[in-house]
This record gives sequence, structure tokens and C-alpha cells, in this order.
Amino acid sequence: MNENKTLIAYATKSGVTEENANIIAKILENQYEFEVDLINLKKNPKPDLSQYKNIIIGSGIRIARWYGKVNKFLKNNFKDKNVAIFLSSGKAGDPESYDDAITKYIDKKLTKNPHIKPIATEAFGGRYADMDYTDPEKVKAWAQELGNKIRK
Ligand SMILES: Cc1cc2nc3c(=O)[nH]c(=O)nc-3n(C[C@H](O)[C@H](O)[C@H](O)COP(=O)(O)O)c2cc1C
Repeated sequence: MNENKTLIAYATKSGVTEENANIIAKILENQYEFEVDLINLKKNPKPDLSQYKNIIIGSGIRIARWYGKVNKFLKNNFKDKNVAIFLSSGKAGDPESYDDAITKYIDKKLTKNPHIKPIATEAFGGRYADMDYTDPEKVKAWAQELGNKIRK
């Protein structure tokens, strides 16, 4: 396992999680010199995790659920790895419902998956019909926090 090797594994339907995965990858590569692989779980649902010390997992939310490919990916054994999780959700983009999104989509999921002990979690705004709650600056700031945390 290589301390520098970082996997960003994600699933997206409307594209926001992929955009955010790309933003996070650029920050970690350019500012923290991590070696980052981006994997769309729809194309590669079972990547070999053995080489990665850092695993960042991204999902969109629809009908209050994480995408199925990510749910399956969460069943992996992440022992001795740094895991971080980010979501894209309509609710998370609205300050009035942000806390509710964290409770319903992140806290609940982690209670159900006690084998996952992430070092960081965040929910970013999504895109839905003509509403756009995306916030690339927030994503960049989170990626920097993460970089600082996992840097040797
Ligand atoms: C059919 C549909 C259902 C959705 N349901 C929810 C929901 O239950 N909660 C929520 O916060 N956002 C919901 N959204 C908004 C999505 O989270 C948003 O589109 C986000 O960008 C999805 O991530 P993705 O772009 O990576 O697919 C929904 C969007 C669609 C199109």
C-alpha cells in the first residue's frame, strides 16, 4: 500500500459528483502531490483497492438514497485506509435543509456501516431541474482540508 496513492471512487447521474471528484483530484494532485486515480463505479464497480492508502468516496442522492454502485462499494474492507466521503444532494445545497441532509444521508449511513470510520465527510449542493446549488469553492476548500489531514 502506497501512502501517496489515492482513489476517488464515485457514482453520478446528473454529473455533479463527477465534477466534484475532478475538482478534488486536481487539488490533491497539484497542491499536495498525491497520485490520484478517478474511478466511475458504473464503469468499474470493483476496483482493486490494495494499492491505495486513501479512498475518497462520492455519491449523488436521489429519492433519499445513495446510488446503488456506491452502496455496493461501501461493503469493501477499508481497514488501515483513510476514507473520506462526499455527497451531492439538492437538500445539502440549501442552508435551511443542510443539517437535515447530513443527518439523513451521512449520519444514518455511517450508523448502518460501522466498519467505515471516515476521517472527513461532507455534503455539497447538487443540480436539479433548473436549480443549481453547486459550489466549487466549497469543494476546493474541503479538498484542501483533506489534503492537510492526510499529508505525511
Ligand atoms: C429524480 C431525482 C430525485 C432526487 N431526490 C433527491 C433527494 O431525495 N434528496 C436530495 O437532497 N436531492 C435529491 N435530488 C437532487 C440530486 O441530489 C442532485 O441532482 C445531485 O446533483 C445528484 O448528484 P449527481 O449530479 O452526481 O447525480 C434528486 C434529483 C432527481 C433528478
